[in-house]
Amino acid sequence: MKYDINKVRAEFPALKRTWNDIPIAFLDNPAGTQVPNRVLKLMNAALVDYNANLGGFFKTSQDAEALVIDAHKIAAEFVNAYDFREIFFGQNMTTLTFMMTRSLAHTLKAGDEIVLTRMDHEGNVAPWLLLAEEKNLTIKWIDLNPDTYELDLSNLDTVITEKTKIVAVNYASNITGSITDVKQVVTAAKAVGAITYIDAVQYAPHGIIDVQDIGCDMLVCSSYKFYGPHQGIMWARKSLLEKLKAYKVRVSSDELPEKFVTGTESREALAGIIGALEHFEWVGSAFGGDLQAALSGRNELQSDIQAGVRKMTQHDMTLADQLISGVKSIKGTKIIGIDDKNSFSRRVSTVSFIHDKHHPDDVAKYMAKRGISIWSGHNYALEPIKRLGLLDKGGVIRVGPTHYNTAGEIDRFLNAFEDYVKND
Ligand SMILES: Cc1ncc(COP(=O)(O)O)c(C=O)c1O
Repeated sequence: MKYDINKVRAEFPALKRTWNDIPIAFLDNPAGTQVPNRVLKLMNAALVDYNANLGGFFKTSQDAEALVIDAHKIAAEFVNAYDFREIFFGQNMTTLTFMMTRSLAHTLKAGDEIVLTRMDHEGNVAPWLLLAEEKNLTIKWIDLNPDTYELDLSNLDTVITEKTKIVAVNYASNITGSITDVKQVVTAAKAVGAITYIDAVQYAPHGIIDVQDIGCDMLVCSSYKFYGPHQGIMWARKSLLEKLKAYKVRVSSDELPEKFVTGTESREALAGIIGALEHFEWVGSAFGGDLQAALSGRNELQSDIQAGVRKMTQHDMTLADQLISGVKSIKGTKIIGIDDKNSFSRRVSTVSFIHDKHHPDDVAKYMAKRGISIWSGHNYALEPIKRLGLLDKGGVIRVGPTHYNTAGEIDRFLNAFEDYVKND
């Protein structure tokens, strides 16, 4: 069946919201998406039907335990994990990363090197900087090319050396939208025996994740960026998790995944993650029939999830194209990212730009008054914003269409922006 935007939108109660009688256009998706009914329903059920702690002999406890296993299993399909025990959950990507630095600290000694990038969000920078400070490690950087808005991978062999122990890199940038060739980075890191840590937060709503194909050791994402609740998801290679020291209470199990579960999990969030991933599955099975043959999912659920991701991306990249060409046609603007349609396979629909006369915050405030939600500023991506010389200019204006947005909403934004700048 052809992609039916009305059917998709009907799944999301928030999309009916108005503000001052104006329908809200949610174009703030790179910072967090709205939530479909199936997420709300499952979260509600977790708090009504399965609300008990784990390990009890009674029905609600056993049901809660089954829910936790289901969440691990569907998340394992989402990233193509080898084993569902390689998945664990946490408050968000940043907290999971801080937690992992505690464990990895035990594998490092003074003088060891960590490689970071000038493209990454603070969530994949600050935890490593603090670890380096604490253990006397050296940080090396993969540069962001300010002309192409992509990472400069041309001199990887000088940045990643025998001294490199960890390489932390993002899959897609929350500023430029560029997709990193993570496989290339992982191959270079593996050649020297370094651990690879992939931040897939911005990529996960827009691309199929396959940790086996990438060959990485750890990968993190956050379900509130793809229609779920505020909760982080981590995948890590079983053999590595087994070796690492866990910061855990003495009575909790050494078995995976419990080894890395600190205290009581938000099971309502885990239920919501199941709902979010079932939403991908629904989009894939309802509208992605034409894509199934080209996909190599290992089972029907995974194929449907993958077809869902692809369908959503086809839609959001059409809107990104409309948005980028519309912005480019307005005098004084500059897209901070790949703007050539022929290279769109190297980017996601997270679109940032600047205007030579207007502060990003002023544009975002103007849009807010018209019921259009967008972001401005550094968006916690300090490194790229500094590297692009935009920190003292207020960062960027960031607009991020997703699979439930419409061409009409993009037009609304473009018309409002044209109105805003018309007297320049
Ligand atoms: C690329 C990227 N990495 C990391 C994060 C941080 O994620 P969390 O809020 O789950 O800690 C974000 C959030 O915007 C992001 O876009």
